[in-house]
Amino acid sequence: MRGPAFWTLILQFSLLLFFCFNGFHCGSLSDVPANAPDISPSVNPQPFLPLLAPSPLTPFINNSVTLSGLCTLNFSAAESLLSTTATDCWASFAPYLANVVCCPQLDATLVTLIGQSSKQSGMLALNMTHSKHCLSDVENILESRGANTELQKLCSIQPGNLTGASCPVIDVDTFESIVDSARLLAACDKVDPVNECCDQVCQNAISDSARKIALNGMSSTNGAHVLPEHLTRIDDCKNIVRRWLTSKLDPPSANSILRGLSNCKINEACPLVFPSIKNVVGKCGDMKSNETACCKEMETYMSHLQEQSFITNMQALNCAASLGIKLQKANVSSNIYSLCHINLKDFSVQVGSQEYGCLLPSLPSDATYDRTSGVSFICDLNDNVAAPWPSSSFKPDSSCNKTNKLPSLPKAISGQNGFDIKNLMISMFFSSLLLLIMLF
Ligand SMILES: *[C@@H]1O[C@H](CO)[C@@H](O)[C@H](O)[C@H]1NC(C)=O
Ligand SMILES: *[C@@H]1O[C@H](CO)[C@@H](O)[C@H](O)[C@H]1NC(C)=O
Ligand SMILES: *[C@@H]1O[C@H](CO)[C@@H](O)[C@H](O)[C@H]1NC(C)=O
Ligand SMILES: *[C@@H]1O[C@H](CO)[C@@H](O)[C@H](O)[C@H]1NC(C)=O
Ligand SMILES: *[C@@H]1O[C@H](CO)[C@@H](O)[C@H](O)[C@H]1NC(C)=O
Ligand SMILES: *[C@@H]1O[C@H](CO)[C@@H](O)[C@H](O)[C@H]1NC(C)=O
Ligand SMILES: *[C@@H]1O[C@H](CO)[C@@H](O)[C@H](O)[C@H]1NC(C)=O
Repeated sequence: MRGPAFWTLILQFSLLLFFCFNGFHCGSLSDVPANAPDISPSVNPQPFLPLLAPSPLTPFINNSVTLSGLCTLNFSAAESLLSTTATDCWASFAPYLANVVCCPQLDATLVTLIGQSSKQSGMLALNMTHSKHCLSDVENILESRGANTELQKLCSIQPGNLTGASCPVIDVDTFESIVDSARLLAACDKVDPVNECCDQVCQNAISDSARKIALNGMSSTNGAHVLPEHLTRIDDCKNIVRRWLTSKLDPPSANSILRGLSNCKINEACPLVFPSIKNVVGKCGDMKSNETACCKEMETYMSHLQEQSFITNMQALNCAASLGIKLQKANVSSNIYSLCHINLKDFSVQVGSQEYGCLLPSLPSDATYDRTSGVSFICDLNDNVAAPWPSSSFKPDSSCNKTNKLPSLPKAISGQNGFDIKNLMISMFFSSLLLLIMLF
């Protein structure tokens, strides 16, 4: 699928400098030939080179970060989580990785920080004043390590998210007197990120515990009629339960469990915002209509989706289904995915001049940083799975039905077969985009 002209230009430029001269090997700065081959004479890389200055490429680490002194969270207890979060939410990547990588990791870090500090404070929530200081300290730490400066907005996190909100039980002793903590811990101390999403062993244990503390001492604890305000309260108590769990685990294990849990929700949905399908329906709605014109319109439509976010291969399946159902409801009855050769990866952000959709693995993944190659993350560029046109029997949760084979289930861990997209490629991609936006 082709994007707008400027997008193509950036992608060509990325290719020109860094991308995939031999098959799909993606090099680092040191691999870049001094004179980049003149693949496309119309694009001159020289003006972009100043962008290779260190700041956009390597996480900027300022060790002398100033903290409020008013937050009692023990940041050293979650040091490795903070580092991972800073890389996952790195500068200009953050918006494109927000849904799958950055925000889930930020959330896991905040939950773990509070859980760990409950070992000293005995409390599983911060008060509002304390929350404001702590959230601001966490942001300062992350920003000093190169994270995006708009994380609160990007991940819709506010000081209120660190409090107990409407959950009535926030201290460890009361919590443990109400909840069967041994059972909760047994259900959650090892979460298999693949099976958990179907079996929901830990998720059910968290919900049960949250319900117990939310409705503690209330008459209607048999669960027959839960009032709407009780649902909010149960939701708020789930955060308390998650914090308690992390206090019983070492921070890296806590982190991977929380990421595994959030991942189930992530893969169930399509995070893309679908623009109006009016034009596609106009060109593709009538069976007698012109195929070329229909596919051209569809291509334009897909290019808008491709500007939004990197998505996982499971999310791409959901996006294909949602869009397909929308189109079918608008009387587009023929399979235009097949007609127009639309693949799952066409729903994700495209990289490379030939516009490879970059699908993230469906299991939790992180961006990584190392000195030589900078920030990188894994995605799968050559997984050419055709987007399935939803049938009338389509059920969104069909992936949990083991007897029900999906057309071509994307690989669970595409990282093994995928490409490690190096920082330079991706960062050039985005910093060029920024530059172009500034120019136009
Ligand atoms: C590092 O952070 C401190 C405190 O925020 C600031 O005063 C200092 O200028 C920063 N250093 C650099 C090199 O930006
Ligand atoms: C903070 O966490 C570190 C590492 O887990 C631990 O060694 C230290 O004792 C903790 N500090 C406080 C004040 O609890
Ligand atoms: C909020 O929590 C902090 C840290 O635990 C404590 O020092 C402060 O007194 C609390 N403020 C209120 C209003 O409870
Ligand atoms: C933070 O709290 C707000 C308001 O309750 C909520 O809408 C939002 O989803 C929360 N954010 C996270 C990351 O949980
Ligand atoms: C189909 O549409 C294309 C592009 O809009 C146009 O060039 C072509 O002539 C049309 N073909 C028919 C048969 O109408
Ligand atoms: C789809 O087609 C049916 C039958 O031809 C018609 O009744 C309905 O209004 C159409 N729906 C839309 C959204 O155009
Ligand atoms: C699983 O899928 C098969 C085939 O589509 C279907 O017959 C069966 O009823 C499904 N089972 C459940 C529990 O949904």
